Amino acid sequence: MIMKGKKGIIFGVANQRSIAWGIAQKLMEQGAEVAFSYMGDRLKGNLDKLLADKPGTKMYDCDCADESQIQRVADQYQADFGTCDFVVHAIAFADKSYLEGDFLPTPKHVFLQAMDVSAYTLVSITRSFRPFMNVGCSVLALTYLGSEKVVQNYNVMGVAKAALEACVRYLASDLGPHGIRVNAISAGPVNTLAARGISDFTNLLKIHRIVAPLRENTTPDHAGGAGLFLLSDLACGVTGEIMYVDGGYNTIAVGPLAAYDLSPEPKD
Ligand SMILES: NC(=O)c1ccc[n+]([C@@H]2O[C@H](COP(=O)([O-])OP(=O)(O)OC[C@H]3O[C@@H](n4cnc5c(N)ncnc54)[C@H](O)[C@@H]3O)[C@@H](O)[C@H]2O)c1
Repeated sequence: MIMKGKKGIIFGVANQRSIAWGIAQKLMEQGAEVAFSYMGDRLKGNLDKLLADKPGTKMYDCDCADESQIQRVADQYQADFGTCDFVVHAIAFADKSYLEGDFLPTPKHVFLQAMDVSAYTLVSITRSFRPFMNVGCSVLALTYLGSEKVVQNYNVMGVAKAALEACVRYLASDLGPHGIRVNAISAGPVNTLAARGISDFTNLLKIHRIVAPLRENTTPDHAGGAGLFLLSDLACGVTGEIMYVDGGYNTIAVGPLAAYDLSPEPKD
């Protein structure tokens, strides 16, 4: 029970397929007291079902695009729990009309909204919870390889994830002297609600299964195990890191030839 006595909050469980739900399950199995933040009544219904065997679990409604709502959740959480040992940021959004085709047409308002919800909210949430974080508190975000290499159709979300990863490093630098750690997991593609907004996502899953050294798709459970590690005291020496949980996909430059259509030969 490595999380016994620890309490914290998870932003971003939408349903049983959510990466955040994989992390939540591991934390609860290991004795953590977990509160949840969700966006809107529809998703509260999903959480109610998932947590049916944990009556009394605290859940807070929050549209994280609105900073005042984040502050309200922080205030409610502090009133309910007093202090905080972990925060999980598993939220992202971009207009799916721009998660296909070229990146070039991305309009400014789409770019800024993706940055706001997918990157800035990590700063905002961390700042609002900071005053009552215990020494040893661990903050965790979720990112994807499209931040550093081009992944077809990921487009503006790749730019937002690059910003998110930079935020992880700067927050880790600010908070490290206070004994607070900030890290991210870079997960391989997982078939979730958010991921279905990315054009051709099923093919991305297929390519991943062929190319990744472990020859399988990443699951919420995989991210859950790594998340548990990073949020626990086992990772007390780890901060500012982006940890890949992708079956090794990021280490491959040219994978098995079966992943590529080599015939007919492309013409100049
Ligand atoms: N699925 C993947 O392939 C994959 C891979 C790597 C990283 N990630 C990241 O993992 C995280 C979780 O996503 P997921 O794939 O589990 O999908 P998901 O759809 O289960 O979760 C996304 C969550 O973001 C929340 N959200 C969106 N806009 C919000 C807002 N304004 N305020 C509050 N919440 C908001 C949604 O309500 C939802 O709970 C995201 O950061 C995502 O980018 C996903």
